[in-house]
Amino acid sequence: MVDLSDIAGLPLKFDPATCAISYGAGVRDPLYATRELDALRPLLADPDCAGPEIIYWMYRNLGLQGDEALLSTYRLRYDISVFVPCKLGREPMKTSGHYHPSPYQGAVAYPEVYEVLYGEALYVLQKVADMEAGPQEVQVEDVIAMRVKAGEKAMMPPGYGHVTINTLDEPLVMCNWVCADFKSFYGSTEECRGFAYWLVEEDGVSSWVRNPNYAQPLPELRFADPRPIPEFGLENGVPMYQVCREHPEWFAFLLRPQDYEEQMWKGLEVR
Ligand SMILES: [Fe+2]
Repeated sequence: MVDLSDIAGLPLKFDPATCAISYGAGVRDPLYATRELDALRPLLADPDCAGPEIIYWMYRNLGLQGDEALLSTYRLRYDISVFVPCKLGREPMKTSGHYHPSPYQGAVAYPEVYEVLYGEALYVLQKVADMEAGPQEVQVEDVIAMRVKAGEKAMMPPGYGHVTINTLDEPLVMCNWVCADFKSFYGSTEECRGFAYWLVEEDGVSSWVRNPNYAQPLPELRFADPRPIPEFGLENGVPMYQVCREHPEWFAFLLRPQDYEEQMWKGLEVR
C-alpha cells in the first residue's frame, strides 16, 4: 500500500499491485464506475486487441465529510480515476476522450483541472471546429500532447477535448476538479476511433501517427509542459483538494470559463 494522503490532501491509500484504493476516516463514499475494455474498443487503433477486462476505475464526488458545500453550493466536484498499466494492441492504455459543453450558447466550453497523484499521465488535448462533425467533415484545429508527473496540475482549457494515456508500466492515479453542472460528450471520437493522433509502439519504438480516420488535413501535433497557475492556487506539490476546500472562489474559472480564459492558458507552456 502506498499512502497518497500527503499528495492528495485527503486520507487515501493505493495498492499498485491490485489498483485498489482505500479511504481513511472522514472520507465520504464516492460513486463508483468502471470502464471496460469492450467499451473502449471502438476508440482503439487495434480494436480486436487482448487486454484486462477493466481498464480504469472512476470514483466520483469523493471528499471529506463536512465538505459537501463544495458541490451543493459551489457546484464543484472532485473525482479520482485509477488506470491499470497495459497495452491495448499497439497503443498504451488510453481513455475514450471527451468534450465539454459551454455554460451557455456562445460562451467558451467548461474546462477541467487534473492533478496526478501516482505515476505519470500523458494528456492529449484536441480542439475541433464542430464537436458534432463526423470523420469526413471534422476540422481539427489544434492537438497538444502534455506529460504530467505526480504533484503537477494539468489544465484542460475550454474547447479542448481530452484523452488520458498511461505510458508507464505502473498504474496511474489522478484526480480532477470540475463543474458538476454538465455532462461530457464524445462527439465523433468513436466514429473516428479516437483523437487525431495515436501514440503507437512498434518494434519497441513509440511514435505519434496520424489517425487515418480523419479525412480532413490535420495540424501538426504540438507539445506542452504543465505550469503552475498561482492565482488559482495551482502549484506543484500543493494538493488541489485542500486548495479548493479552503478557497473555492479560486476555482470560479471552472464555473465561468468565459471570465478566465487567458489565465487558464498560463497552465500550458507550448514548446
Ligand atoms: Fe473532462
